[in-house]
Amino acid sequence: MMMGLGSIVHLSSITLLCMHHHTHQTQFQFQPFGFPYSNSNNLLPSLSTTIPGWGIKLKSKTLSFSFMASATHFQVSSEDGSAPTQELGSSPSLAIGQHDLLIVGPGVLGRLVAQKWRQEYPGCQVFGQTVTTNHHEELTKLGISPSLKWTKEDYKFPYVIFCAPPYQSSDYPGDLRQAALCWNGEGAFLFTSSSAPYDCNDNGFCDEDTPVVPIGRSPRTDVLLKAENVVLEFGGSVVRLSGLYKEDRGAHAYWLEKGIVESRPDHILNLIHYEDAASLSATILKKKFRRRIFLGCDSHPLSRQEVMDLVNQSGKFSKRFEKFTGTDDPLGKRLNNSRTREELGWEPKYTSFAHFLETL
Ligand SMILES: NC(=O)c1ccc[n+]([C@@H]2O[C@H](COP(=O)([O-])OP(=O)(O)OC[C@H]3O[C@@H](n4cnc5c(N)ncnc54)[C@H](OP(=O)(O)O)[C@@H]3O)[C@@H](O)[C@H]2O)c1
Repeated sequence: MMMGLGSIVHLSSITLLCMHHHTHQTQFQFQPFGFPYSNSNNLLPSLSTTIPGWGIKLKSKTLSFSFMASATHFQVSSEDGSAPTQELGSSPSLAIGQHDLLIVGPGVLGRLVAQKWRQEYPGCQVFGQTVTTNHHEELTKLGISPSLKWTKEDYKFPYVIFCAPPYQSSDYPGDLRQAALCWNGEGAFLFTSSSAPYDCNDNGFCDEDTPVVPIGRSPRTDVLLKAENVVLEFGGSVVRLSGLYKEDRGAHAYWLEKGIVESRPDHILNLIHYEDAASLSATILKKKFRRRIFLGCDSHPLSRQEVMDLVNQSGKFSKRFEKFTGTDDPLGKRLNNSRTREELGWEPKYTSFAHFLETL
């Protein structure tokens, strides 16, 4: 039974596939420590909707793609209706180059990594693995060949970055394992984890050497630590990121939207601009590390109140933040990543949140 017909978009030398298919809506909220999370119980589309859709490198002929309901095979046939030329489920046809990159979770961060990677290696192919087809058209336009979750491991890539957040997954460590199986072991495999596992909640100092929360204390850190362990087992590396932000996304944007927030104002948080997280991730990938853990932050921790005071004083936003009303929720930590910077020769473009606001 045929489920849908892909349409073809030509982008320079690459012909990319975009699928029009039933989509799955999930609503997200931002969690003050960093991660947005889903408030939907139905997190994953059913298997019958997970149809793989790799962008296929072709020479000149326009092809159309017929997706089969089994989701295990899909066929490539020529536009003039002649017989199928290839069944991709059984014979991989992608020619993977030595700098090609698979991005699992090509969201805000992943797309910026793609951009940086292409600047570094012009002409490389970038592939994106998502959980729904909701953004496949956008990805295709950005030159990222989209696919849904794995049904097989026919393709292996020299560079794999996993930058999907945990909230859309029912088995996050399992997803990391799948990603690891897509790595051919050559370039690098990197997981963008979170600084949440560092065991510090008294607004104290914290760096790469701070011990992590023991497994079993918190489900949220358990998921991250288990995922990290999978990556390290496979020889990949981890970058623990602090709160990601850009002008319209991140803690400040969420709080500004709310106006009054039931959290304590003196909780210290740590930030890194999305662009800096992308340049840091690309630097780590490029250096082909094995089994290393790095820390991504701007080393300018601020209290929640300080963040929102800066926002209000900047005059760059149309809304005004009112207040934090919490009194007894946990405190945070003060992150410093000078060891990561020294080792990688990396510095952030936005040295602090205050610096970022000046650039707006
Ligand atoms: N936000 C923060 O403050 C923060 C802090 C520390 C660390 N991090 C980490 O930083 C990374 C990047 O975050 P972001 O804000 O750029 O993420 P994002 O924009 O929310 O990324 C969403 C993308 O990931 C895909 N995705 C979600 N779950 C997936 C899964 N299990 N398998 C494959 N694809 C999946 C989504 O697919 P669809 O297109 O189908 O929806 C979408 O393309 C994540 O690893 C996150 O955990 C974030």
